[in-house]
Amino acid sequence: MQLDSKIVAVVTGGASGLGLATARRLAARGARVAIFDFNDAQGQQAADELGGVFCKVDVTSDDQVDAAFAKSRAALGQERILINCAGTGNAFKTAGRDKKTGQINHFPIDQFNRIIQINLVGTFRCLAKSAAGMLTLDPLEDGERGAIVNTASVAAEDGQIGQAAYSASKGGVVGMTLPIARDLMGEGIRVNTILPGIFNTPLMNAAPDNVKLALAASVPFPKRLGLPEEFARLAVEMCENGYFNGEDVRLDGAIRMAPR
Ligand SMILES: NC(=O)c1ccc[n+]([C@@H]2O[C@H](COP(=O)([O-])OP(=O)(O)OC[C@H]3O[C@@H](n4cnc5c(N)ncnc54)[C@H](O)[C@@H]3O)[C@@H](O)[C@H]2O)c1
Repeated sequence: MQLDSKIVAVVTGGASGLGLATARRLAARGARVAIFDFNDAQGQQAADELGGVFCKVDVTSDDQVDAAFAKSRAALGQERILINCAGTGNAFKTAGRDKKTGQINHFPIDQFNRIIQINLVGTFRCLAKSAAGMLTLDPLEDGERGAIVNTASVAAEDGQIGQAAYSASKGGVVGMTLPIARDLMGEGIRVNTILPGIFNTPLMNAAPDNVKLALAASVPFPKRLGLPEEFARLAVEMCENGYFNGEDVRLDGAIRMAPR
């Protein structure tokens, strides 16, 4: 797909980090961009910077996602690109003992469900509703109607201690990529997923310097955290390259996460 001002892209989680970098790159290539995020201030700021539209949305809400697509389509037109970056994580052991009190506890089930709802169901909700909208578009060259990029994580394959919910949610995103690409193949919509390693986003910036240095040292090569722009380059390539379909691609400097 050739990016230009006729192409509209929706970026969930576009207010920050990997989503913001991708929104910037899409806009720099000429696309018109809608930012879907629940962070009002940063979302509006990103949309203003890119001359796009901000839609406040929690991806766990059907109504809010419907309203966000209605708003962005009224302002910019039907999107041909969806980038799913909205997501978050948590950390609890499946079951364990409190080191001080010896008390036995387990992963709070509501916290497990919350991560699945945001990262897995939220991604699918935006994807399904976006794909339904793309079906109304005329195909471009090669019969292509649209392109969708999801964000999983290397935790889908090598999740660490405490990451049962996060890994399950991201493993779900990896697992659904091919069947969704097959569901949509007759309509000319491609679907791909990126599994980022450790990237230098606001999420990571919160970590102390010694932790960040240790993480950087654990990457085989290059020995640093990934740059959001490097994620954005792959996400945009997945949109532009018409033969990219049904793929789950690690972008991680060859890191394989240790148990902790
Ligand atoms: N940074 C990394 O090292 C890394 C590694 C692997 C995977 N990822 C994944 O990449 C994606 C982006 O992460 P990031 O590092 O850019 O984080 P980030 O916190 O900088 O950005 C995430 C954005 O998603 C938004 N968001 C979160 N929950 C939402 C919800 N329910 N509805 C709408 N918006 C919501 C946040 O407001 C934020 O703007 C996430 O899915 C994350 O799991 C990140």
